Amino acid sequence: MPPRVVQTPDEVRAALAGRRARGAIGLVPTMGALHAGHASLIERARGECPTVVVSIFVNPLQFDRADDLARYPRPFEADLALCNRLGVDVVFAPAPDAIYPEPPDVTVHVGETAKYLCGAFRPGHFDGVATVVLKLFNIVQPDVAYFGEKDAQQLAIIRRMVSDLNVPVTIAPVPTVREADGLALSSRNQHLNTEERALAPALHKALTAARDAVAGGTREAAAVKQLAARLIPADGRLRLEYLEIVDPWTFLPLQTIDRPAVAAGALWVGSTRLIDNVLCTPPA
Ligand code: PAJ
Repeated sequence: MPPRVVQTPDEVRAALAGRRARGAIGLVPTMGALHAGHASLIERARGECPTVVVSIFVNPLQFDRADDLARYPRPFEADLALCNRLGVDVVFAPAPDAIYPEPPDVTVHVGETAKYLCGAFRPGHFDGVATVVLKLFNIVQPDVAYFGEKDAQQLAIIRRMVSDLNVPVTIAPVPTVREADGLALSSRNQHLNTEERALAPALHKALTAARDAVAGGTREAAAVKQLAARLIPADGRLRLEYLEIVDPWTFLPLQTIDRPAVAAGALWVGSTRLIDNVLCTPPA
């Protein structure tokens, strides 16, 4: 059966009313332009939950740049075809008005977890993410929601929101899906031209160098960051926005890497901003 496509919160409730008794409802929140990274979240949900809901909504509240929102890809028919192949039960694809009938006056604010990394460079971004994810949780009322480790700070913030606000949803993390050369799959990769695409894996190379240095016993975060950043080629098309070593739960920067940490970076490749992260584990 092809997925049932619904566009309003009332339609979601109606579509799910008869299904709750069958067992867990799994939600995969997305902004569409689905690729193999999203597919791995959906497959995981399909394997664990009798009912799988995929939301497709390009959330204006989390975009800090109008041009990024305007050029965000929206290939709805292809997304629906993928959801169909993966056996999704319900696709929730609301228009902006169905989610924000008026500008929201009450929103979620994220504190320290959003202070560094993407939070520092994209003002308001994580408040927008947390607000829409809480709304999606309230509309769909899933038992489990699936999030990619690719957006590690987002994952940490959603976990913290669920804990701080007693949201009755289990958060399931899913490993990052990569191209053969290490580049993390992203809807924004399609903006890269051939030359930019060839430069893009530099971010993952830098982060894996950080991981190797930590595994080799380097404990000073400053030293690790420096050796990793040196692996970004000096090329006018590349600009490293940040490369940080942080605690995986709080996302606060570490000075000394004496426990598992996340090395995370954001790299501008031409006019496209890419992010990635890897887990770094010091030797026992
Ligand atoms: P979007 O960028 O579409 O990503 C949807 C989900 O797919 C996120 O949980 C993201 O971490 C995951 N994902 C993206 N690329 C991945 C990859 N290469 N490997 C594994 N998982 C990957 O993240 C958002 O949308 C939005 O912020 C959202 C949570 C939907 C709120 O608007």
